[in-house]
Amino acid sequence: MITSFLMFLETNRLKIRRFTPDDWLLLYVLVMKWEESDYAKYDHGPWPENEEKYKDITNDLSKSEILLAVTLKQNDVFIGFVAKPFKEEGEYGLGFNFHPDFHRQGYAFEACSAVVAYIFENLGAKKITDGTALLNKPAYNLLKKLGFKSGNHKQISFRKDKNGDPIEFTGVDFSLTSEDYFKHASKGS
Ligand SMILES: CC(C)(COP(=O)(O)OP(=O)(O)OC[C@H]1O[C@@H](n2cnc3c(N)ncnc32)[C@H](O)[C@@H]1OP(=O)(O)O)[C@@H](O)C(=O)NCCC(=O)NCCS
Repeated sequence: MITSFLMFLETNRLKIRRFTPDDWLLLYVLVMKWEESDYAKYDHGPWPENEEKYKDITNDLSKSEILLAVTLKQNDVFIGFVAKPFKEEGEYGLGFNFHPDFHRQGYAFEACSAVVAYIFENLGAKKITDGTALLNKPAYNLLKKLGFKSGNHKQISFRKDKNGDPIEFTGVDFSLTSEDYFKHASKGS
């Protein structure tokens, strides 16, 4: 069997790598924390509550590079993940989720910038797309800082409330083209 090249990125403070099966408990803790947050109801989900399921989930994740684990370089502490799902020829998505203990320190921006660069410079994508709730200001601001342009606003729903009614919210589409990315990169900003 041919072993494929394993993606590994390093930034000033972070390592970005494939998940390994040993990460299962770390992923479980992270997503359970996310499920407690005010914004989780505006995202796909919920994540499974059964801890044991994360053994299979991380085992599957370890075979692909869709979801990447982010750790601190100095001590290997797991702080979150960045997702880069393939959408269609020339287009990837971007997702991110960091443990609240590691918010507001620029880690998410540092990790996402590296993954965005990888998608355009190594995978040859023409466009990266994402969407977030208008109310999710941290995600909204992060996408803006990464150079994404906001597009359509639309009423959408991913989850249901306790009565089984859809939780509706205003979702915003975001996209970043390779043209804009390289224009920005060539200015050195
Ligand atoms: C969305 C999310 C990743 C944003 O994380 P974050 O930590 O707020 O984002 P950043 O990495 O950009 O850090 C932001 C702040 O860190 C601060 N900061 C502190 N030290 C810093 C440093 N050394 N370098 C850069 N910024 C630093 C900055 O002031 C910055 O604030 P500003 O953008 O207002 O200037 C985070 O809130 C999260 O994981 N949320 C849960 C998941 C989620 O909502 N996903 C989206 C679903 S659609």
